[in-house]
Amino acid sequence: VNKCAVVQHILKAYSKEPKREQGTFFAPSNIALCKYWGKRDTELNLPHTSSLSISLGNLGAKTTIALEQALKDRISINGKEVDEDSIFSKNLSHFLDLFRPLNSVFFRVATEVNIPIGAGLASSACGFAAVVGALDQLYGWELPLSLLSILGRLGSGSASRSFWHGFVEWQAGHDADGMDSAGACLESVWPALRIGVLIVDSEQKKLSSRIAMQNTVLTSPFYKIWPEKQARDLKDLKKAIEKQDFMALGETTESNALAMHALMLTTSPPILYSQASTLEAIDKIWHYRQLGLPLYFTQDAGPNLKLLFLEKDEEAIIKIFPKLIVVSPFNIGAFQC
Ligand code: DP6
Repeated sequence: VNKCAVVQHILKAYSKEPKREQGTFFAPSNIALCKYWGKRDTELNLPHTSSLSISLGNLGAKTTIALEQALKDRISINGKEVDEDSIFSKNLSHFLDLFRPLNSVFFRVATEVNIPIGAGLASSACGFAAVVGALDQLYGWELPLSLLSILGRLGSGSASRSFWHGFVEWQAGHDADGMDSAGACLESVWPALRIGVLIVDSEQKKLSSRIAMQNTVLTSPFYKIWPEKQARDLKDLKKAIEKQDFMALGETTESNALAMHALMLTTSPPILYSQASTLEAIDKIWHYRQLGLPLYFTQDAGPNLKLLFLEKDEEAIIKIFPKLIVVSPFNIGAFQC
C-alpha cells in the first residue's frame, strides 16, 4: 500500500476543488512520554508500538494554504520565503503532491512557528499536522480529527499526535493500510503539570530520527524486547495520568526515554544523541531529585532535554536551570482535547 492509495481512499467522497480562498490551521507541538521508535511500514510511517504524548499548548505551527498562480509551490516560514531547492521545500512539495487535484496545481504555504527552532521541539510533527489541517480548511473536507491524524502521519509519524491538546495516544494499529493507526486524545486534564525545554546545544541534529529509528530496528539485538517495555510503560503512564500520580508519570517517562537511547547505543553503527552537556544536565536532575525535588526528564533524537515537573516547584527549578523555557500544556483557555 502506498501513500497515494491511502489518501485516495480517505478523500474519495470529498471535494477535489477548493471551497475557500485559503485554509488556516494551528497544530500544537507534542513531546512523547512513551516514544515512537521503529516502523513496521516505512512508506506509511506505521509504528511497531503505540505511543503517548503531551501537547505543548499554544506552542506549535499555524499554517495558511492557498492556491498559487506561479508554476511551483511557494513556501515561507515566519514570513521568510524558503529556498525551493532546500530539503525542507522538496519534502513538503513532495507531500503536497498527494493533495493536488492536477499536477499543474501549486500551493502557497505560509507557516508561523512560535517554538524555538532547533530545540528538538518536534517541529516536523506540528508542521505536517498544520499543513493537513489547513488543506482540510481550504478544500472544505471537514474530516474528523482521526482521519486528519492519519493524513498527518503520512508526512511524519509523530504528526499523528499533533491534532489535539493535552495527552494523546497514537494507537499502533494492525492493518496494512494503516487505517487503524491514528491518534486519539485522553480526556484527562492536569493543569499543574509543567514541561520545561532545556536547550543544552542548539545545533541541528546530525542524524535524522527517520534514519536512526530504521537502523535501530534493523540492527539492535535488543529491539525485540522494546514492544514489551512499551506496552508496560504505556499502561503505567495511563494509570499515572488517571490518578495524577506525578512520581509514576516521571519515573515511567524517564525510563522510557532512557530505554530508547539505550537501544540506539546498541545499534550498529551506534547512535549517540547525548553530548557532555546533556549528561551534565541529567546528573543535575538526578542530584536534585535525590534531595527531594520531583523533577524528571525525557529526551528525543537530539541532545536537548524536556523536563517534567509541577507548578509548585517551578520557581525552584528555574533557579537551577535559569534558561529553561517553561510550558503549561493545559493553560490554553477552556480545555478541549
Ligand atoms: C524520538 O515522527 O520525526 O521524537 O515518522 O520518520 O517522520 P518520522 O519520525 P518522527 O520521529 C519522532 C521520534 C521521537 C519520538 C516520538 O516523538 O515519539
